[in-house]
Amino acid sequence: MENRILTGEKLKEDQGEMSIRPESLSEYVGQKEVKENLEIFIKAAKMREEPLDHVLLYGPPGLGKTTLAYIIAHELGSNIKTTSGPAIEKSGDLAAILSTLEPGDVLFIDEIHRIPRFIEEILYSAMEDFTLDIVVGNDTSSRNIQIDLPPFTLVGATTRAGDLTGPLRDRFGIINKLNYYTVEELEQIARRTAKVLEVTIEPDAAHELAKRSRGTPRITNRLFKRVRDYALVMGNGTMDLEITKLALDKLKVDGLGLDETDYHLLKSIVEKFNGGPVGIEAIASSIGEEETTIEDVYEPYLLQTGLLKRTPRGRMVTKKAYEHLGIPYKEKETK
Ligand SMILES: Nc1ncnc2c1ncn2[C@@H]1O[C@H](COP(=O)(O)OP(=O)(O)OP(=O)(O)O)[C@@H](O)[C@H]1O
Ligand SMILES: [Mg+2]
Repeated sequence: MENRILTGEKLKEDQGEMSIRPESLSEYVGQKEVKENLEIFIKAAKMREEPLDHVLLYGPPGLGKTTLAYIIAHELGSNIKTTSGPAIEKSGDLAAILSTLEPGDVLFIDEIHRIPRFIEEILYSAMEDFTLDIVVGNDTSSRNIQIDLPPFTLVGATTRAGDLTGPLRDRFGIINKLNYYTVEELEQIARRTAKVLEVTIEPDAAHELAKRSRGTPRITNRLFKRVRDYALVMGNGTMDLEITKLALDKLKVDGLGLDETDYHLLKSIVEKFNGGPVGIEAIASSIGEEETTIEDVYEPYLLQTGLLKRTPRGRMVTKKAYEHLGIPYKEKETK
C-alpha cells in the first residue's frame, strides 16, 4: 500500500512539510501535557545552566515527534544534530556523530529502536557520564579508549517504544507519549497551514478535513494540499465545505477517516474469521501485509476509534465497526 493517502508514515509528497512545521512550543498544537512538562523542564535546565535531561518521544507516525525534537533544540537555544537508528551500522558511526557534539547540543536519534544492540552500549555511557567508550584496533591488538564528551541532550524518537531495551529506556529522564489529536486540534493545524500557504479555508471545511485525518497532523497537511488543488482547479481557490467533501470522497477517505485498506482489514476479519478474535499473524497473511505494519500503522487508529478491540485471544471487530461497514451484527456469546 505504497500510495496510501491516509498513512501516518512519511511519503515523498510530504517533503515540503518542513516549511509548515511549527518552530516553537507555543505554535505546537495539542499534546498539552507533554508541552507543559517540557516547558518546565526546559526552563529549569536553562536556569541551572545544565543540559536538559534526555528525552524519549514515542507514538504512531506523523504525530509530531521530529517536529518536537527540533522545537526542544529551538527552545533551549541549542544546535541540533540528527541521525537515525538505521543509519548507525557500526560503532564508529555513532562515535563519529557523538564526537561532533558541542556543549548543550541536542542529538536527535530518529527510530532509535533500530540501533543494533551491540552499539547501544556505547550510548549508555555517553548518556550517563558523557563519555565515549570505544575499542580501537583489531582482534590481535585492541584497547579501550575513553573520550570525554560535552554535556548534551539526547532526544530519541520511536514508533515502537516496546522494542527499546530496558537499559536504554531507563537512561531517559523524560519519557513522553504522543497521542492522536482531537478534531479541534487538527482544525487548528489546518488553519495554521492555510495561513502559511496563503490560502483560505472555511471553518466548516477545516472541520471536515480534520474529521477525516485519523488524528494525525501529517495526514491533515497531506489532505489539505490535495483539497487545495481541487479548490484551485474546480473552484475559485477557496477551500469550502463542498469542494473539501468532493475531494475527500474522490480520494476515498470516508467520514471517519478510513480508507480502502481499513475496510479491507476490517472486512477480512469479519468475513474470514467471523469478526474474531483472531491473531495478528492470521490477519497479516490474509491481507498480505507485514505484522509490524498492521501494528504500527493501521491498527492504532482503529483501536483508538473503537472499531477494533484487542483481547487476550486476538483482535476483534466491534459492533461499531459492523455498523460503520453496514454489516448486520450478531451478539456473540462470551466464553
Ligand atoms: N503539534 C503540531 N502542530 C502543528 N503541526 C504539527 C504538529 N505535529 C506535527 N505537525 C505537522 O505534521 C508533520 C509531521 O510531523 P513529524 O514529522 O514531526 O511526525 P513524526 O512523529 O516525527 O513522524 P514519524 O514517526 O514518521 O517520524 C510536520 O511536518 C508538521 O507540519
Ligand atoms: Mg519523525
